[in-house]
Amino acid sequence: MSDLLRDLWYFAAASRELKAGKMFRREILGEPIALGRDGAGKAFALRDICPHRAVPLSAGKVVENAGVQTIECPYHGWRFGAGDGVCKMIPTLVEGQPYEPGRIKVRHFPTYEANGIVLVYVSADPRFAGEPPPPPEFGLGDFTEPKFVIERIFAATMDNAVVGLMDPAHVPYVHNQWWWRPPSSGRKLKQKRFVPRERGWAIERHAPSGNSLAYRMLFGGEVTTEISFMLPGYRWEVVDNPKSRLFTLTCLTPEKRKTPRASRK
Ligand code: FES
Repeated sequence: MSDLLRDLWYFAAASRELKAGKMFRREILGEPIALGRDGAGKAFALRDICPHRAVPLSAGKVVENAGVQTIECPYHGWRFGAGDGVCKMIPTLVEGQPYEPGRIKVRHFPTYEANGIVLVYVSADPRFAGEPPPPPEFGLGDFTEPKFVIERIFAATMDNAVVGLMDPAHVPYVHNQWWWRPPSSGRKLKQKRFVPRERGWAIERHAPSGNSLAYRMLFGGEVTTEISFMLPGYRWEVVDNPKSRLFTLTCLTPEKRKTPRASRK
């Protein structure tokens, strides 16, 4: 897949999917990733291919090795640091054998966890070992956990999925359905103020159409909303009224070339 999609942070999982001491396999940009949570509660992501004999590390175990959280390969028991991918132990080495396990490394992907979601940084350079750029900022504040998460896998390229995520052309048709705006309210010219944002744009905070049934039923009056979009595939909306706030975040994560995963929280 295009290098334009690398050197970026991607949504990998909801925090609640990652159980302490467990891991599972996920694919991002065609990279098999062992994604999990170590015994100390920290999220980790390592390439899901053991550098010894290519066995999936996600089939192994999370174990502590001399005070370090590691992933133990299920085939020959090599242990790799959950936080750096460096080999910490080769059980078949005998005392005095002049071999340094730390020379072996499995690819490590930086992770970031906040507000109940886990992001993974996928660099273009597979040997990247520096500090990744800051993760995307959605303005979630002290919001702790999504109330619900929906996931879908689409048979589409990432480009098509991103166009579907924005798609301003659906507005004049879909938003004129009876459940959104009753026909009796008539058709109106809609104008929104778009402003540039980092790697994207936002429709500035505005009052949704006063005759929108959906907003009226969910929030009553005095509602305002702001919609933001950021490449490679984040769209979030904050709907506010004096009593409550609704935050929805949609993330597109390219798995294989033609199957992006969409997650809405
Ligand atoms: S295949 Fe992983 S330790 Fe041998």
